[in-house]
Amino acid sequence: MPDSFQSPVNASTRYCAVYGQPIKHSASPAMQNAGIAALKLNWRYLAFEVDPANLREAIAGAKAMNFIGLNLTVPHKLLAVEMMDALDESARVWGAVNTVRFEGKDAAGKWQPLGLFADSLPGEVRSQGFNTDADAITRSLREDLRFEPKGATALVLGAGGAGKVAALKLASENVAELFLVNRTTGKAQAVATEIQHRYPTVKVAIGYPAKPVDLLLNATSLGLKPDDALPWDESTFPLNRAGTIYDMIYRPAETLLLKAAKAAGRRTANGLGMLLYQGAKALELWTGQNPPIQLMREALERNIYG
Ligand code: ATR
Repeated sequence: MPDSFQSPVNASTRYCAVYGQPIKHSASPAMQNAGIAALKLNWRYLAFEVDPANLREAIAGAKAMNFIGLNLTVPHKLLAVEMMDALDESARVWGAVNTVRFEGKDAAGKWQPLGLFADSLPGEVRSQGFNTDADAITRSLREDLRFEPKGATALVLGAGGAGKVAALKLASENVAELFLVNRTTGKAQAVATEIQHRYPTVKVAIGYPAKPVDLLLNATSLGLKPDDALPWDESTFPLNRAGTIYDMIYRPAETLLLKAAKAAGRRTANGLGMLLYQGAKALELWTGQNPPIQLMREALERNIYG
């Protein structure tokens, strides 16, 4: 087990964390601590339930305590954009922050990841927001579902942080047509308007398609809790109309959506691949090193499948 290589917690231990609400389902600590141990760092990765009303304070607290970085999950990814001291291009392009890197000024006045300051910490620290979700989504769709966005049609459920990034990323990769469904229709409409503006060759509509699509992607949080409603309307959109079905949720490993999709004979994948690739990129941003992806995948699989 990679955990056996971990150095004991002492006064030099540095910290990363994920903030979310809910958070108890998160497999990020298992994955990131395996990666941190493999890189032989005296770091730990923690998880905190943070109410959105306290997000600004929680980020400021981590910065004040010289945390290495943070991951943000539901419902913080959009809120955090306004709370960063600086935004990387990825966060600007996709309009959501899932990775925060704390940075200090080096002797030459250049901002460097706080993880690179081993002995003496810098006087001035800033937060920089990144988005590592967008690339992770299409990488996982390709690897796990053999789904190629170019020229394809897709139905995206959800227009929060995850849904917005998924829809924009698919549009940027030249899907032919996108259908957006969200409880709060205005949010789906805002995403559609942004896509029409930025990717005018992509056809985008609000609501369920009457015809088959190549991909149905769940980016809502419905399915995380056992008593959640289904994330889509079965009577309006029977699952045999979707070629492949992806659920960004990875715990439970098989949501009711994925169960029904398998029963309908569809090719399916859960969000393990997306979690892996966004997390590996975050670890790379914090450490400046190549992340041990295979080890991180194995830690995730143990954590999620037992
Ligand atoms: P994330 O950053 O993970 O996307 P989010 O921005 O809070 O988190 O988005 C959660 C998504 O799940 C949204 O699409 C949300 O719908 P609303 O935009 O209408 O809030 C959806 N969602 C959450 N709870 C829901 C519920 N009970 N019924 C329907 N949709 C729900």
